Amino acid sequence: MQSIPDLIKKKRDGEQLSDEEIRTFIRAVTDGTMQESQIGAMLMAIWQKGMLDAETSILTREMMSSGEVMSWPKEWAGLVVDKHSTGGVGDKVSLVLAPALAACGCKVPMISGRGLAHTGGTLDKLETIPGYNVQQPAAQILEMLDSVGCCIVGQTETLVPADRVLYALRDTTSTVDSLPLITGSIISKKGAESLSALVLDVKFGRAALYKDLESAKQLAQSLVNAGNSLGICTGAVLSCMDATIGRCVGNSLEVIESVETLKGRGPDDLMELVTTLGGVLLKMTGLVSDLSEGRAKISDAVIGGAALTKFQTMLEKQGVAKETARSLCSAHTDYHSVLRKSQHQRELKTPAEGVIKDVDGLVLAQVLHQLGAGRSKAGEPVNHSVGAELLVSLGQRVGKGESWLRLHYEDPAPTPDQMNRLQSALTLGEPDDTPDPQTQFSLVRELLLPL
Ligand code: URA
Repeated sequence: MQSIPDLIKKKRDGEQLSDEEIRTFIRAVTDGTMQESQIGAMLMAIWQKGMLDAETSILTREMMSSGEVMSWPKEWAGLVVDKHSTGGVGDKVSLVLAPALAACGCKVPMISGRGLAHTGGTLDKLETIPGYNVQQPAAQILEMLDSVGCCIVGQTETLVPADRVLYALRDTTSTVDSLPLITGSIISKKGAESLSALVLDVKFGRAALYKDLESAKQLAQSLVNAGNSLGICTGAVLSCMDATIGRCVGNSLEVIESVETLKGRGPDDLMELVTTLGGVLLKMTGLVSDLSEGRAKISDAVIGGAALTKFQTMLEKQGVAKETARSLCSAHTDYHSVLRKSQHQRELKTPAEGVIKDVDGLVLAQVLHQLGAGRSKAGEPVNHSVGAELLVSLGQRVGKGESWLRLHYEDPAPTPDQMNRLQSALTLGEPDDTPDPQTQFSLVRELLLPL
């Protein structure tokens, strides 16, 4: 067997690693026999020389096999599904999609993450609901899928331990942005959920990991190839991440917008993403015969209230008191009787008459992050009540001095510089500008579906 330095040298010199060599590498990472310096050197070699699709597939499979792989009752064959998003601003899709899919007959063991830098995390959002427990044992996950059809939980200790080691070292060796390493990390965790079908929401734009559509497509193709190589029917949706998804950004505010959506009062762009991602999954499971039927079925589950009922039961199963879950999900609730409200709010005004041409989601998210809504390092606490509500829509005509953004903040107050940055997120067009409805209001740009 080759030594670890031989493997590093081989990749460093741009050669293809064999299946056995990749297995040796991942085993040595998992059992602790590979030194951190060697892992860092291998990560840098992979970052520089890349991997062929075949190598990435084996890397993904070996990472998945480094820990526990979930198993499901055989009656669920074909029905176990999940979604992964590459990270966005105001991305609350999971909170609506998981219960909607459950209402359509799917089993959704959604393992989600926490926010980092300017992107939010589903677990942080759900933890704003008093009592919600993201850490659930395998037996409870099975019980929730059996009785409700969905759960949204954090990663367990036993799932893909190789990723925990590699992910931490990628951060400290500047090797995060490598296509094979991102692919292995994301798909190995989905593989360990033993999914039948997976849809990826791969974002592009100023607030996304990849700024342009072409690079996002490469990532989408790499993820789709790796998912399919594990036997998971995998598709991808390429969606624009320039502004915000929906009107709210910040953990508590996003829960409110998600629950409003589950009550049939959601914004069009969020509904477009939910119905497209859900429609793709329903098509891949064979529960519907085409995408438009899938979209309609998801939309009915949301508008008709079946998804809200699933959401309420999921909250109770994950530790939320019955009365709290009922209150949150009742038709006319005072959300702030359940969710903490920030101590202060301030409204920003339009500087002139015009048409709302653009809102820079990255700038909003960066300032909110500075005000405590996000974390810079894994493990840091976040302030759940800090956030912003967009009070206007793209394409809307506004007069001078109208409120366009409501900022929710705690002490200390935002500095003048932070207020100026927030104001700079708004671009107004001339009052007689006619917006292009296709590019301004639709987030979904392309689909990458299995044949
Ligand atoms: N999410 C992951 O889990 N891993 C990555 O590498 C990137 C995003």
